[in-house]
Amino acid sequence: LTPSHASSDDFPQCLSASIPGPLVHAQSSPSFTSVLVSSIRNARFSTPTTVRPRWVITPTNASHVQAAVVCGHRHGVRLRVRSGGHDYEGLSYSSKSPEVFAVVDLSNLRGVRIDKQNSTAWVDSGATLGELYYAVAQASNQLAFPAGLCPTIGVGGHFSGGGFGTLLRKYGLAADNVLNALVVDARGRILDKDAMGPDVFWAIRGGGGESFGIVLSWQVRLVAVPPTVTAFRIPVTVDEGAVDAVTRWQEVAPALPDDLFIRVLLQNQTATFEALYLGTCDVLLPVMRCRFRELGMRMNRTHCQEMTWIQSVPYFSLSSGATVEDILNRTTATGTYTKMTSDYVRQAIRRDAWENIFAGWLARPDAGIMILDPYGAAIGGVPEPATPFPHRAGVLYNIQYVNLWFAGGDGGAAQMKWVRDLYAFMEPYVSSSPREAYFNYRDLDLGENVVMGNVSSYEAGKVWGEKYFRDNYKRLALAKNEIDPDDFFRNEQSIPPLGPGK
Ligand code: FDA
Repeated sequence: LTPSHASSDDFPQCLSASIPGPLVHAQSSPSFTSVLVSSIRNARFSTPTTVRPRWVITPTNASHVQAAVVCGHRHGVRLRVRSGGHDYEGLSYSSKSPEVFAVVDLSNLRGVRIDKQNSTAWVDSGATLGELYYAVAQASNQLAFPAGLCPTIGVGGHFSGGGFGTLLRKYGLAADNVLNALVVDARGRILDKDAMGPDVFWAIRGGGGESFGIVLSWQVRLVAVPPTVTAFRIPVTVDEGAVDAVTRWQEVAPALPDDLFIRVLLQNQTATFEALYLGTCDVLLPVMRCRFRELGMRMNRTHCQEMTWIQSVPYFSLSSGATVEDILNRTTATGTYTKMTSDYVRQAIRRDAWENIFAGWLARPDAGIMILDPYGAAIGGVPEPATPFPHRAGVLYNIQYVNLWFAGGDGGAAQMKWVRDLYAFMEPYVSSSPREAYFNYRDLDLGENVVMGNVSSYEAGKVWGEKYFRDNYKRLALAKNEIDPDDFFRNEQSIPPLGPGK
């Protein structure tokens, strides 16, 4: 199974036996750039110095994916898989160091097949969350799926890394609701849940797909939502009491009933509280007044927006006035450069620290945004070893630090520094030993693999692996060894293989 030393020049020849020519885009072909950039979300990884793939392959059926793996293996060409291209470090389509590799872009494999009677669906990895949500809502306005907010995210990366959004307190992660999956392994075989075995099936539900193979499609459990849900968005400035409201939110939000999700966006001198309630405004208002007075006493009926669940998708993710059909638009914004990282909070942060954050960090000219997503309820109710995603009982909320900029100036140095310096400042206030981070908010500052003897080192991977997966890192490495002991599927933060008994 070791990639042979045959020349990578023979790779396209090998592909041509099984994949139609127009689906293989070599660097020299006129279609290459447009196909490559089609789902690049972060302009930081689309520059003249970016290490780009030698080929992009756009399969239209599963056998093309199998052929790409077999040929890659035979001719020593590694593959990176791309579903929606939203990886924060661009790992689905670029490499940090010089490497001959091909991208398997799954955007043509994006069917969604709903089984309304059994409230399940099969969804292909190349579908976007918007396409999945739309198809579910077409089948019934009382069915939904719990996953991320942004409709252009790809199912493949999102589900395999966890995936959470406004339904996380009621129904947990996207990965918690996966029932089966089809994976192409490093030998080119298609394996379902039974064929891949319990360890690998466990691993791909939160441990990242890229380490284990190419996930073609997922069977998921759909979840129940009422015909009417209520959303609100309420900005509170520092002068209006944002510091007190955020301080209080930390303990209230993770303990609220599971059908109420209230997140906070901190930007400049404003905390914006955004909420989804699985019910009507009449029921929500008294809950808010009783459980979260700092916000509830400011609220009245005019703050409530009653709608269907599918209407809440553009409400939270797109600009005002966007329609439900707009969530089908796969075109991603290009030209924005971003840097993100994440933390988990297990003990509420003191009021004086929030004062500092607003007065210092958020007031700076190059400041970005902090997004606080509450946990508790269903997401916290899953035992830590049940899936690779370990941020369960005891987590109050996730913090995402985000900064973005456009080309020019100092190339984002100030914005990147803001994220890194704030991350350093936050250390005493967040989880420790290990300091936890969310795998889907990938950050290479947390560490990168070290390859020794053509295999990623398990020991070296601990530095980032235990932040994302805590004690589950070891079991992920054992699962990797079961399905890909030669480490064919690897990137800068893929799970290294670990032989049993080590
Ligand atoms: P992409 O295609 O870049 O893949 C990401 C990683 O998964 C890569 O390493 C890739 O190789 C691997 N991969 C992709 N498809 C695979 C497959 N079929 N088989 C095996 N491996 C595969 N997250 C969240 O939980 N909630 C949220 O609300 C948001 N919101 C959000 C908004 C925006 C604008 C961005 C850019 C990102 C988010 N995210 C998020 C993070 C998102 O969940 C994360 O980036 C996902 O990995 C993206 O999946 P894609 O398929 O789009 O990425």
